[in-house]
Amino acid sequence: MKCKLLLVLLLAGILCCAAQQYGGAPRHDIVKLSLLWPNTYCLTNDHNCRPNVPQYFTIGGLWSEMNNGEKVENCNTGYYLTSSMIDRHKVELLKYWPDLSTYNYQDSKQLWKDKWETDGTCCSDIMRPEDYLASALNLRQSHNMYQILTNAGILANGSSYPATKILAAIRKATRFMVDIVGDTDRVGNVYLSEIHQCLDNHAGGFADCDNKDVNCDQDPIFPDTVFATKAKTSRKASPTKRTTETRA
Ligand SMILES: *[C@@H]1O[C@H](CO)[C@@H](O)[C@H](O)[C@H]1NC(C)=O
Repeated sequence: MKCKLLLVLLLAGILCCAAQQYGGAPRHDIVKLSLLWPNTYCLTNDHNCRPNVPQYFTIGGLWSEMNNGEKVENCNTGYYLTSSMIDRHKVELLKYWPDLSTYNYQDSKQLWKDKWETDGTCCSDIMRPEDYLASALNLRQSHNMYQILTNAGILANGSSYPATKILAAIRKATRFMVDIVGDTDRVGNVYLSEIHQCLDNHAGGFADCDNKDVNCDQDPIFPDTVFATKAKTSRKASPTKRTTETRA
């Protein structure tokens, strides 16, 4: 009896992971660009972050999705992202698509390779690996989300803001609807984590997302430097030394 159960579990496990590993041919109804707020990334999920992270939105990913919200991953393709393709974009990648756990360029390469394998392969009918990184970087440069939010009075100062206000500010400035994603820390604070921008099926231009907020049960906090925020939640706020990278 016990054995049978184990066998079923084992089979289920194999089926599940086989499906995840082989997503079939590249396919998509839409392509999504995800922008990360690094402070949130470092505050949640026990991510291992380097001492200083950018104080602007960085690229979280560029992936394909079906209209039903299914993210398409790990497609079969004969294309590989090589080190020399990465080298061509070294400076921009380090600045706008950094591995937040390290400053080391060689170590960071695994992040971009993984992103190509997981997400990029499913867009490989519309962009080759050598175009994938460039596309993400170009799309990221289309809007300065930090500035857009600041202009709307949504400052990264540790205060919380209604999700509807964040969505409206971005919609007004970019003329497209986006989605936002919150993330929760160990003590239940909800932080603004990601902004998702939608692109048309060819990733040729921006398109409307659903204008929805995901995992924002409370108004998300837009956190300033990780350490300032941590100090605020654990102890009485004290003036924290800030090392801020250039805003871009
Ligand atoms: C953050 O900025 C907003 C908008 O200017 C302001 O209303 C809020 O009081 C500020 N919060 C903190 C903690 O300084």
